[in-house]
Amino acid sequence: MRVLSVVSELYPFVKTGGLADVAGALPPALRGHGIDMRSLLPAYPSVVARTGWGEVVHHWPDYYGGEARLRRLEAEGHRLFLLDAPHLYDRPGGPYTDPAGVDHPDNWRRFAALSRAGADLARGLIFDFRPDIVHAHDWQTALAAAFVHYDGTPSASVVTVHNLAFQGQFDAGIFPALGLPPDAFSIHGVEYYGGVGFLKAGLKLATGITAVSPTYAEEIRTPEGGMGLAGLLSDRVDDLCGIVNGIDAAAWDPASDPHLPARFTADDRPARQVNRRALEARFGLDADDAPIFSVVSRLTWQKGIDLLAETADHLVGLGAKLAVLGSGDPGLEHAFREAATRHPGRIGTVIGYDEPLAHLLQGGADAILIPSRFEPCGLTQLYGLRYGSVPVVARVGGLADTVIDANHAALVAGVATGIQFSPVDVPALRKAIRRAVHLYHSPGIWTRLRREGMKADVSWDHSAADYAALYRDLLDRSRR
Ligand code: ADP
Ligand code: GLC
Repeated sequence: MRVLSVVSELYPFVKTGGLADVAGALPPALRGHGIDMRSLLPAYPSVVARTGWGEVVHHWPDYYGGEARLRRLEAEGHRLFLLDAPHLYDRPGGPYTDPAGVDHPDNWRRFAALSRAGADLARGLIFDFRPDIVHAHDWQTALAAAFVHYDGTPSASVVTVHNLAFQGQFDAGIFPALGLPPDAFSIHGVEYYGGVGFLKAGLKLATGITAVSPTYAEEIRTPEGGMGLAGLLSDRVDDLCGIVNGIDAAAWDPASDPHLPARFTADDRPARQVNRRALEARFGLDADDAPIFSVVSRLTWQKGIDLLAETADHLVGLGAKLAVLGSGDPGLEHAFREAATRHPGRIGTVIGYDEPLAHLLQGGADAILIPSRFEPCGLTQLYGLRYGSVPVVARVGGLADTVIDANHAALVAGVATGIQFSPVDVPALRKAIRRAVHLYHSPGIWTRLRREGMKADVSWDHSAADYAALYRDLLDRSRR
């Protein structure tokens, strides 16, 4: 079966968050299930610098306001299509923003164009790769499902919700430039509160919908988690399922990780100790045996990072240390710089995006803190499990689905892998940190917790099988 993943970021070529990790890990994971997944993404300059240009397989003289080419190539095990449209993608900054972090004003056009190209491939744009399924991710490519629908193409489509908070809502005035039929501007199509909703359209028109964890698939049907789309998603409950993310087990393997000063397996305490010392040196923390909590995160409201800022003094008061790597809201960046100044040797902050340093934190810290207000899946807790950095997480979304809380029963049964807390507020977070520190000082228990975590199956094995089964089911349905 042939599946085209249409996506705005893909590790290792371009990444701003977990979406890229998933888009990069899914194709190789599906190979063993007889799925030929290729990925279509924009030819951002940073991508081309790494992959090269490849061969031109289609040329559009005028595509959404400029000349464009579809290119095909293989790079680092990925079979890629790149949409080479310089007027849309050849500019400085990240995939969505300019160098100052401001959204490109024409993002609607940039991602409508990408989505249209995905639907064109489904329509048979090139003779030797016509996908049976178009798999779109988040608002950036959800419109591909709408194009497939209105084209009347026989392919099935699936939209995966990685984060419902970003919906791609634009003014109605852009509608004529999208290239959809006039009747698409209706409540049954792309129209959303008087404007155009990219994600809304995809969720309405895709053959199937997935969310990146079973709990998130439920949360997004509630008024609180649905962010305006709960009604639509509830109507489509039979077409919606949650499939939890896995990790790229090659990129995140403590036994072979090139970013770690010392590589290790579950029983190798001394090697982990080496990483710990390196982490302390890098974050300016005292070299002692106090537990080290880490954060690797976008610093945003979603991630509950403000709650942690309020809890930082308490954490230090418990004798623990904190190492923070992240970037995002200037106010939160400031709060953690301040905290580090207030507690020299006890709190260390690195503001920025640093992939190797993220690995060192997982391989050297004792615990990773994830106090998210909502978390569709979350990957850092999965990396924490694999690296023996015990996850301390809010009981929401994918965090609830992937960490087994060290409650009495789980400890007695020896199956606990971390700590969960609820509700997501400062008192509960404090209490969770207190529990973690207490367990840390009960060495037998902590060692067990860490070992169980390292044994947990966080691979793509199960989830890739679920996606493969879903694709087959969708294809059957679309043929009927
Ligand atoms: P989200 O996609 O919502 O940001 P995830 O937990 O799914 O959350 O994925 C985050 C990904 O980004 C992980 O691979 C994590 O290691 C990485 N990451 C987040 N912040 C940083 C940072 N400051 N430096 C390096 N990697 C980061
Ligand atoms: C989003 C979510 C995160 C999820 C990632 C990959 O960025 O915020 O929870 O892990 O997508 O699915």
